[in-house]
Amino acid sequence: MSTDSVNPNRRRFLNWTAGVVGAVGVGYAAVPFIRSMSPSAAVMAEATTTVDLSKVDKGQRITVMWQGKPVWVVRRTDEMLETLEDPEVTGQLKDPDSQQSEQPEFAANEFRSREPEWLVMIAICTHLGCIPSYHPESGGNFWSGAWKGGFFCPCHGSGYDLAGRVMEGSPAPLNMAVPYYEFLSDSELRIGEPVG
Ligand code: FES
Repeated sequence: MSTDSVNPNRRRFLNWTAGVVGAVGVGYAAVPFIRSMSPSAAVMAEATTTVDLSKVDKGQRITVMWQGKPVWVVRRTDEMLETLEDPEVTGQLKDPDSQQSEQPEFAANEFRSREPEWLVMIAICTHLGCIPSYHPESGGNFWSGAWKGGFFCPCHGSGYDLAGRVMEGSPAPLNMAVPYYEFLSDSELRIGEPVG
């Protein structure tokens, strides 16, 4: 039987059925695509890291992971904060006002932080990416000038003060980077900007 011989009512029915089936198929195919466009809970969770500050003592540093990178959270003492304004320290810094370095606007100050007590910083040397060590104490032979405490990268000998500002004479060109972060309460910190 040729197509021409099909009853016109039956042909209309067949055309309508094919259209409905096609539309439903396109709808089902679009669901995973649309889902893939909205940020999943996993992506949102990876975008930020929440830190419990209640167990961090004064002078202590903890390391957390954020977006695959180590981040230090340091609770600085008053003595540590005093070193950041000491001319013996500021006179040895490449970028004391963090003009060239990477940090959110709220951290473009001598403390490089929202709250002077808390330093939050990506723990990666700006020379070739080693992880420096933490030396909160004054003295020591880490630097030819006065050493008032800070971070020292053993790979090629870069020194940083207690705000992650790089010392003159270091191969590292910039201060260590500060990520975006917010305090959610007195004892909780969130690193990174929420997605969505
Ligand atoms: S990687 Fe830190 S001084 Fe070279």
